[in-house]
Amino acid sequence: MNDAPRAEKTRTFIAPHGGTLVNRLVQGGEAADLLGRAASLPKIELDARSAADAELIATGAFSPLTGFVGRDDYRSIIRDLRTASGAIFSIPITLGVPASDATKLAVGKEAALTVNGDVVGVIEVSELYPFEREFEAKEVYKTTDATHPGVAYLYAHKDEIAVAGKITLAKRTILRKFPAHHRDPAELRALIADRGWKRTVAFQTRNPIHRAHEYLLRSALETVDGLVVHPLVGETKGDDVPAATRVRCYETLLEKYFPKERVVLSVFPFAMRYAGPREAVLHAIARQNYGFSHFIVGRDHAGVGNYYGTYDAQKLLDAQPHSAGALVDPKGGSLAITPIFFEHSFYCKGCNAVASAKTCPHDKTNHLVLSGTKVRELLTAGEAPPPEYSRPEIAEILIEAYRA
Ligand code: ADX
Repeated sequence: MNDAPRAEKTRTFIAPHGGTLVNRLVQGGEAADLLGRAASLPKIELDARSAADAELIATGAFSPLTGFVGRDDYRSIIRDLRTASGAIFSIPITLGVPASDATKLAVGKEAALTVNGDVVGVIEVSELYPFEREFEAKEVYKTTDATHPGVAYLYAHKDEIAVAGKITLAKRTILRKFPAHHRDPAELRALIADRGWKRTVAFQTRNPIHRAHEYLLRSALETVDGLVVHPLVGETKGDDVPAATRVRCYETLLEKYFPKERVVLSVFPFAMRYAGPREAVLHAIARQNYGFSHFIVGRDHAGVGNYYGTYDAQKLLDAQPHSAGALVDPKGGSLAITPIFFEHSFYCKGCNAVASAKTCPHDKTNHLVLSGTKVRELLTAGEAPPPEYSRPEIAEILIEAYRA
């Protein structure tokens, strides 16, 4: 395995977090050797979230992490938003196993990682430790309410043992559900370099793109060279619009309303945590690793229900040390990606356009603010969201999907 050539290439526009794009994938003879060796090792089965995390670690999306975090990193990330060695990191990426399985593992030895029973790689077990789920919920999610979907996951895996260690994958662990739009960080970096974009903005979303989102996209694109719509397509909660429907919406919107030479659709196969501000910071870190120089953060980014304030995610990102656009690793583990903040946007009848409190002089009676919940209600009743809210082509796809 050799990180050097890829790391050199990536330095041409924005440094990966920590300076080097982590690569924990092996191929060919190395992969065959690893799989041969792993066959006789104790096995750890990865669930959908851990499988996604494993490949995101291995392809460098979570650089500087090279594996599932140990106890010092776990506590330090939860408490201080820093790895033990000082790099900004906001949500610990951990691997849990049932306590009964942990007894088969030994510190200092390898274990095989499996997906649906198939060996995909190994972990060099460096530590086994208990989770501190209440502490994690309180600090990362800012609530211990078990109905919060992110907290619910923690509590459902409360009694597991955390397995820490560097990983190596010989096989991919994420199903390519959208192969035409699937790119590893190194591939997206290469695409951005090929396009010659010095400034590239990423847009995170877990929803179909509505007119307020589109306003953010257009405004941001005015100030940079390229835009990548980078929707999260890993696990989401049951009532979010399924990724397959959303991808059809994104394809249609970009095809009809955006210039091909400036806008790309590429998926982000991460499992949503709904951790609001903490997740916004992790989203930004991952997007820096994918090679973006800018990252859009609007209202209640990665939030759910009423757990977070409208601009808490922006405040937390703004409070992080930042070396905008650094080509080499910024000192002190700070971020090089630049967040672009947007006010809550809405359609205004008075402006006859999408606007925000920053740009609109009219009072609230002119404003059409449609929540995701309201839209889901309309769709369930077979009604199209109004054109001020959604492009008709997108509304059509959503209605059809809801009918089906
Ligand atoms: S998220 O979980 O991915 O944040 P969503 O897909 O709704 O949810 O939002 C994607 C991005 O658009 C986030 O940065 C969010 O803050 C922003 N956003 C969504 N709706 C609005 C809006 N009406 N006004 C401003 N920003 C918005």
